[in-house]
Amino acid sequence: MSLSSLPAPRQLFVTTALPYANAAFHVGHIMEYIQADIWVRFQRMQGHEVHFVCADDAHGAPIMIAAEKAGITPQEFVARIAAGRQQHLDGFHIGFDNWHSTDGEENHALSKDIYRRLRDDAKLITTKTIDQYFDPVKNMFLADRYIKGECPKCAAKDQYGDSCEVCGAVYAPTDLKQPYSALSGAVPVMKSSEHYFFRLSDEKCRDYLRGWALDGKLQPEVANKAREWLEGDTGLGDWDISRDAPYFGIEIPDAPGKYFYVWLDAPIGYLASLKNYFAKTGRDFDAFMADPTTEQYHFIGKDITYFHTLFWPAMLHFSGLKVPNNIFVHGFITVSGEKMSKSRGTGISPLRYLELGMNPEWLRYYIAAKLNAKVEDLDFNPDDFVARVNSDLIGKYINIASRAAGFISKKFAGRLSTAWAVEGDTFLDNLRHAGPEVSALLEAREYGKALRAVIHQADLVNAYVDANKPWELAKDPANEQKLHEVCSRLMEAFRILTIYLKPVMPALAANVEALLNIAPLQWADINTPLPDGHVINPYNHLMTRVEPKMLDALFDAPAEVAADSSTTAAEASTAASSNDIEALAPQIGIDDFAKIDLRIALIVDCEAVEGSDKLLRLSLDVGEGRLRNVFSGIKSAYQPQDLVGKLTVMVANLAPRKMKFGISEGMVLAASAADEKSTPGIYILQPWPGATPGMRIR
Ligand code: MSP
Ligand code: ZN
Repeated sequence: MSLSSLPAPRQLFVTTALPYANAAFHVGHIMEYIQADIWVRFQRMQGHEVHFVCADDAHGAPIMIAAEKAGITPQEFVARIAAGRQQHLDGFHIGFDNWHSTDGEENHALSKDIYRRLRDDAKLITTKTIDQYFDPVKNMFLADRYIKGECPKCAAKDQYGDSCEVCGAVYAPTDLKQPYSALSGAVPVMKSSEHYFFRLSDEKCRDYLRGWALDGKLQPEVANKAREWLEGDTGLGDWDISRDAPYFGIEIPDAPGKYFYVWLDAPIGYLASLKNYFAKTGRDFDAFMADPTTEQYHFIGKDITYFHTLFWPAMLHFSGLKVPNNIFVHGFITVSGEKMSKSRGTGISPLRYLELGMNPEWLRYYIAAKLNAKVEDLDFNPDDFVARVNSDLIGKYINIASRAAGFISKKFAGRLSTAWAVEGDTFLDNLRHAGPEVSALLEAREYGKALRAVIHQADLVNAYVDANKPWELAKDPANEQKLHEVCSRLMEAFRILTIYLKPVMPALAANVEALLNIAPLQWADINTPLPDGHVINPYNHLMTRVEPKMLDALFDAPAEVAADSSTTAAEASTAASSNDIEALAPQIGIDDFAKIDLRIALIVDCEAVEGSDKLLRLSLDVGEGRLRNVFSGIKSAYQPQDLVGKLTVMVANLAPRKMKFGISEGMVLAASAADEKSTPGIYILQPWPGATPGMRIR
C-alpha cells in the first residue's frame, strides 16, 4: 500500500455508559468496558486519534438515600465508590483516558447551559403541575420504587409501586392498596408539585429523531425499537426532567428547589468528562466538539437504549451541539445461563477474579470470543472459558512462540534469518492477507468472528509446525539452515498474529514486543517483516493455562451457580444429616430466647481490619439513626465489597466488647460446621426480600 492511499486519521470520541456510583463494578460493567476498550485500541493501532472517557453517574435519589443511611454526605459516598474504580480498570487493562464524575463542575455548567438553550432557543421546556405521593415523615416526594403496598390485582403484600413481583401486574403507584413509604413506613399523601418537562411530543422532535434514528446507522434491533417508539400511536410523550428537593443533583436555573432528574445530566457527563480531560491536557474542547469531522460513539447496554437513541440525540440537536454518530448496544452477560442479580449476589466478582491471580486477558479474550455486533446476551460458562483459553489461546497461539523462540535463542544467538523470504512466501502472505478481514470485523465489533478468523490462521501456522517439526530438525546438524528458516518464519507468523490479537490482549502483546525486541506494533506493521539478522530476546513464559480449580474458587458457594458441581442441594442436605452435626445445646424456654434481641441489619460499610487475618469490620444499620461498629471473624469467607448493601442478622443487645481493634457493638450471626477442618466454610445469614433494617426476629 502506498502512503497516499492510507485513509486519513479519524478523530474519535468514545465513551461507555456512566456507572451509578452506588456500588463497586460488577462483571457486566467490566464486559462493557472490555468491548469498548478493544475497539478503541484497534482504532489507535490504525493510527486514529481516540479520546476514551467515562465517569461516575453520581446523582439521583438512590445514592442520596444510601448516603443518608451510611451517615455521610452524597459527595463523600460517591467519592468512596470512585476510590475503588481505578484498581478494576488497571486490573483489566481498560485504558480510559479520563474518569470523572457527573457531580463535577463541568457537568453542572454544561447541564445548565444545555437546559437554557433548550428552553430559550428551542422552546422545548414547559412546566406542568402533577400529583405525586409524598412521604410526610421524610418530607420528600417518592419515586415509584419507594412506594410499596398490596398488589391491586392479586393482593400480594409489599409490592413495589410500578409492578407486582408475584403476579406480574403493571400499575401506577396510586393503584396500590395500603400504600406505605419504603423509606419511613409512613402512609404517603398526595401532593401536587410543578415539574419541568422536555417537550418531546413536539412534532419537530419526532421529525428530527426519525431522521437520526432510522437512517440505517443503528443496529437493526435497535432501529426496530426506535421505530416502535417513534411510530407508535401515542408518539413520544413529554419527558419529566425535574425532581423536587431534597435531591442529589444539579439545580435547575431559575427554579429554586428543583433539580434535574439524574437522566438529564448523566449523558451530559460524557461531555463533562471529555472537557475535564481536555482542560488537563491543554486541548480546546469547544473546537473539538464543533469540528464536523469529530466522530462520537457511546457503548451501552440494552437496558438504556431509550435514553440514548431518543432523549440524548434530541437534547444535543436542539441545543445546537454535535449528535452521536452511533450508539453501540450490547446484551447482558449471564453466568452459566443465570441472570446476574445484585440481591442474590451471584455472578463473578471482578476483584475476586483478580485476587485469585486469574489473568485478566483470559477474560478479555473469552468475552471477545463471544461478542458480536448484535444485542445478544452473552453467557459466561466456566467449562467453555477453560476450553477456549487453554485450547485456542494457549494451545494454538502461544504455543507457536514457545516452539520456535527457544531454538532461535539457543542455536542462532537470537538472530532471525529472512534470507529465504525473498519473494512470494505464500505461507506468510496468506497470513497477511487475513489482515483486511480481521480489521473489518473488529471495526464492525464482530469480535467473535474476528477471533475465529485469527484462530483459523493459527491453525494453518500449526499445520506448518507439524509439517516441519522443528524439534526433529534440531536433532541433525545437517538441517541447521532449514531449522533457522522454519523458526524464523514461525516467529514472523507469531508477530503477525500478535498484531491481530493486540486490541484484545494489550499486555500480552507488550510482552511479545519485548520478546521480539521491537517498538509497539501498529496495524500497518503487518506488511513490514522483521529484517534479516534482527535479534530477539530469550523466550520467557508468555501466558499460563487456566487451572479449572480457579473457576471453582471464583464461584464457590451457591449451588445454582456451581454448574459443574455434581452435588445438588438435596444431596448436600442428606449428606449433612447423615454426618455428625454438632450436639444440640441444652433446652431453653421461650423467656430465655426472648432475652436475645435479634435484628435485621443493613451492612452499610465493610472493610478488612488491618493487622488481623480473621476479622472484617462492619458498619451496621439497625434503624437506630446511628451505625453500629461490629467486628466479625468472617474474613476468610467474604470479600468486604460483596457484603456492602446486603441485609443480615445481628444480636443487637449483646454488651459492647472491647477488642484489640476497637469496640464491637454486637454480633453478626453465621453458620459453620462443628468440625471446621473437615467441613470448612462460614455462612452469614440473609433474610428473605422484604425485611428491612431494625425489624426484630422472633
Ligand atoms: N448510570 C446509568 C447509565 C448512565 S449513561 C449516561 C446506568 N448505570 S449502571 O451502572 O446501571 O449500568 C452501566 C452500564 O452497565 C450500562 O450500559 C448497563 O447496560 C451495563 N450493564 C449492567 N448490567 C449488565 C450486564 N449484566 N451485562 C452487561 N452490561 C450490563 O445504567
Ligand atoms: Zn400481584
